[in-house]
Amino acid sequence: MNSASTLKDQVAVITGASSGIGAAVARNLSQAGMKLVLTARRSERIDSLAKEIGESASLMGDITEPSLPQKLLDLALQRFGRCDVICNNAGVVDVGPIEEIDIERVCRMVRINVEAAFRLAYAAVRHFKRINQGHLVNTSSILGTKVRPTAGAYAGTKYAIEALSEGLRMELAGTNVKVSCIEPGLVLTELHNHWKVHPTKSMNISSPLQPEDIARTIRFLLEQPAHIRIPRLLIMPGEQQL
Ligand SMILES: NC(=O)c1ccc[n+]([C@@H]2O[C@H](COP(=O)([O-])OP(=O)(O)OC[C@H]3O[C@@H](n4cnc5c(N)ncnc54)[C@H](OP(=O)(O)O)[C@@H]3O)[C@@H](O)[C@H]2O)c1
Repeated sequence: MNSASTLKDQVAVITGASSGIGAAVARNLSQAGMKLVLTARRSERIDSLAKEIGESASLMGDITEPSLPQKLLDLALQRFGRCDVICNNAGVVDVGPIEEIDIERVCRMVRINVEAAFRLAYAAVRHFKRINQGHLVNTSSILGTKVRPTAGAYAGTKYAIEALSEGLRMELAGTNVKVSCIEPGLVLTELHNHWKVHPTKSMNISSPLQPEDIARTIRFLLEQPAHIRIPRLLIMPGEQQL
């Protein structure tokens, strides 16, 4: 454990902690000495992660259940007496051409990527503003900065996260509350497992980012001195063009 980390004994809530970026962030922040509240639907994944890392609490559930975001914050406060960081990370991706995209899946994506993320963001910043401290880290995407054909709806969910984050950052200027968006390019996780052609193939990327790369980047954001804000951070594999 890196006992020199300024994050030691701080508390983070991480959504989407059962795989990919969320699980890697949990491992990294636990190594920094943080106490964690973990959530996702797959309880066996969360249970095994909890056994592997340091002190943690967990609350399983579908993040679109409207009361879950506030319950996660409440759990952090009840179990650990504080909440310093919220990683608003759970998400899904649905893309496809006009003829094929499933509008019901798109609406489900909007509920997960936008509605649930907004609920957690507001629960977080209301608490952080009250105590004049805290850091909200939203997982956006390179597609929160640009659009690709067939991916307009997914990009729209991430543009929404970017807009909310920027509005909150402006509203919180002059306080000690930080809001950041992390904007990954292609990361090798389970996110694209249902795609007919994996983006590593269609984009010809042999070395995509790994979840640990994003975890290190988030740790970097969190360890900055109090006077620094990093509202957006784009991180891409070297081979990714678009
Ligand atoms: N991979 C990339 O290339 C990439 C690039 C840019 C941005 N991102 C963003 O990174 C974030 C994490 O994705 P990932 O790449 O790590 O993918 P992942 O491995 O598929 O992880 C997604 C996580 O979200 C959780 N989740 C999904 N739907 C949920 C729901 N309805 N309720 C509760 N939890 C739910 C999943 O948990 P359960 O299934 O167990 O519930 C899982 O823990 C997403 O916001 C994604 O948009 C990914």
